[in-house]
Amino acid sequence: MKSYKLAIVGATGVVGRTVLKVLEEKKLPISEYVLFASKRSCGTKLHFMGKDYEVRELTETSFDEGFDFAIFSAGGDTAKKFAPIAASKGCIVVDNSSAFRMEKDVPLIVPEVNSEEIKNHRGIIANPNCSTIQAVVALKPLDTKYHIKRIVYSTYQAVSGAGSKGIFDLENGIHDFENKQDYALQKFPYPIFNNCLPHIDVFLENGYTKEEEKMINETRKILKRPDLKITATTIRVPVFNSHSESINVEFEKDFDLKELVLTLKNAPNVIVQDDVKNNIYPLATNATGHDEVFVGRIRRDESIKSGINLWVVADNIRKGAASNAIQIVEKLIDFDNN
Ligand code: A2P
Repeated sequence: MKSYKLAIVGATGVVGRTVLKVLEEKKLPISEYVLFASKRSCGTKLHFMGKDYEVRELTETSFDEGFDFAIFSAGGDTAKKFAPIAASKGCIVVDNSSAFRMEKDVPLIVPEVNSEEIKNHRGIIANPNCSTIQAVVALKPLDTKYHIKRIVYSTYQAVSGAGSKGIFDLENGIHDFENKQDYALQKFPYPIFNNCLPHIDVFLENGYTKEEEKMINETRKILKRPDLKITATTIRVPVFNSHSESINVEFEKDFDLKELVLTLKNAPNVIVQDDVKNNIYPLATNATGHDEVFVGRIRRDESIKSGINLWVVADNIRKGAASNAIQIVEKLIDFDNN
């Protein structure tokens, strides 16, 4: 098998560090890694694959030396500026930001759902929003079998999804509560500790947030259901890691509940945890550190003819970002070798 060269852009961030961790676990046929971040981190040493890597500043000439792949986890502005440069030099970029997700010629990939579309890329592949990834892993097998008519998303999202500054706000909030001190918020408009903020990303003209719009549009693109009826309310909660989602789904077709649960049990990378008599259901603390999507509280929506409620939990930094991006790179390597 060929060996590849991979750039990790945003290596010092929350997602970037998890990319390094997952790469250590996976052992892909990659012979050379180069770690990039902003000028601030230039020279920082990160221990990775048994040695110290010096982080380089990302510049317009960073990709001149030639890379096969790059995983970008450095936000939309950095992606918009540098991903096209990387792609123009023959490097295939998997980007974690929202910069390219809705562009027509950019595949938006969740490998369990639409890996065949990876082949349509023109140098940039987008990793979907974390809340969307875990939702569609659970919803795709149900859409195939029962044809979804409408989705109502309500999310309970961890602070790690807001990067290092989001984590600082919760840590500082806990510290402030214990020590009765004041602290300056770094990320959120209000204290996240002891609160639920109905505000993720910016507000749009129609009163929705951009996060809610992302869930709606990205679900439609990934499921290839451009007219699917979807609404969403996304909430930031004082949880360090792993997003939880209440998903209400209405189907065109009727279903047998046992068969539906079996469909979920047989779906790739879905783990059903649903034994309420024994208080078994998915929890953020249990999902953290895993790449699977956990589904429970599966019950009929008795207010409509054919509908269910699901509770869907996954590690937003692993499956919602780092691991999904690495799965895409694995698929690219598979395609290249077959
Ligand atoms: P740095 O640590 O040098 O600021 P998080 O959202 O978890 O804080 O992570 C953001 C990541 O994106 C960090 O690795 C950060 O690097 C990186 N980053 C931000 N701006 C740039 C930029 N202009 N060029 C390269 N990397 C960037």
